[in-house]
Order: sequence, then structure tokens, then C-alpha cells
Amino acid sequence: MEIDFPQGKKLRLLVGDITKLPVDAIVNAANSGLRGGGGVDGAMHRAGGPVIMRELDAIRASAGGCPTGSAVVTGAGALPAQYVFHAVGPVYQDGLHGEPEQLANCYRRCLELAEQHGVRSISFPAISTGVYGYPLEEAARIALATIASRLRHPDCPVQNVSLVLFDQAAYTVHARIAAAARATSSKSAESL
Ligand code: APR
Repeated sequence: MEIDFPQGKKLRLLVGDITKLPVDAIVNAANSGLRGGGGVDGAMHRAGGPVIMRELDAIRASAGGCPTGSAVVTGAGALPAQYVFHAVGPVYQDGLHGEPEQLANCYRRCLELAEQHGVRSISFPAISTGVYGYPLEEAARIALATIASRLRHPDCPVQNVSLVLFDQAAYTVHARIAAAARATSSKSAESL
């Protein structure tokens, strides 16, 4: 599914392995210790090689890690990208502990980093929806609304955003929410 925005900007939803899609910057779903793990993080380090962890070691040594809702930048090693933005999503408790804002902040921060680094194409996984247990529908609403809000802005230089879903079920949820949001009035905060 492809959603068009002003100035030729696009948001694409697709099913696949995020480590295989060539873009300027790939977003990783990391942890605040930046120590690697399973899921997207594991796949990213396996495909990118040890150089990414060496850069994270240096960031950890100087900054101690990365707070929830933020992201740090490394090179991409052997991944088909220039940068990896390691975003730290919230661990889901019940949605009443600031998780929605923290999740939105991950997407916002990565788009800000994209602008600062001259990135024109960026891919996101569904941050927090795996090990961190964020309910898929709620996370999808936040991801789509946050990305759309930035892409709509005339000052946003990022041209192509891909949301790479790992399986068809996750894709279907995101596509349904995107289609429903597009059908609502453009005055709605949730419209795409
Ligand atoms: N490409 C795209 N999506 C993927 C891939 C992949 N190669 N591998 C997993 N996913 C999907 C999962 O199905 C899930 O929907 O990415 C989403 C996020 O899942 P996780 O990787 O578990 O990330 P998250 O829930 O944010 O948990 C972060 O997991 O491994 C650790 O170090 C990581 O501690 C951190 C935690």
C-alpha cells in the first residue's frame, strides 16, 4: 500500500525483512542499553556485522545508553543503507504509563535525525510490537499518525518512508488503519 503526500512524498506499507530493503537510513528497534537482542535488533546486527556494535560500544561509553523514546545513530555496516537509527521503544505495561507518547517520540526523533543527516528514504519496523509487547493496533495508529503528521509538513525534506511489517497479519492491521484514517475528514488529527 502506498499513501501519497504533498510534494511527491510517500509512505509505503510493505511486508518483508527490513534488513533487505535499500534505503538511506534503517530504524532498529533497540533497547536502552544498546546491547543488541532478538527480533529486528538481532537481524540488524547479524546482517550489518560487528562494526555496528563497535559504534554502539563507543556511544554507550560516552552517553551510557539511550533513553526510551529517543534514538542514536550509527553507520550501517553491510546493511543496504548509510545509517542505522537505533530507536528505543517503550515496554508496554497498560498504555497508562506514557507509552503512547514515548512510542510517538521514537518515530518523531528518527524523522528529525533523518532531516539532520540529509536522509531522503527511511524504513521503520513496527517498534515495540514484538518483545516489548505493544498491542499492534494501538502501535499502528501511533506510528501512522506520527509519520503522516511529519510528511504532511511542507518543511519535511524526507521523501520516502517505508513501514516494513514482518508478516501479513501485521500488514493487514496497518493497512486497515491507514485506509480508515484516509477516509476520515482531513480535519481529523488522525487522518493521513
Ligand atoms: N524485519 C521487519 N520486522 C521485523 C523483523 C525484521 N527482520 N524481525 C522482527 N520484526 C518485527 C516483529 O514481528 C515485531 O512486530 O518487528 C517488530 C518489533 O519487534 P522486536 O524486534 O521484538 O522489537 P521491540 O518489540 O521494540 O522490542 C525491543 O527486543 O530484541 C530486543 O534488543 C531488542 O530489547 C529490545 C527489544
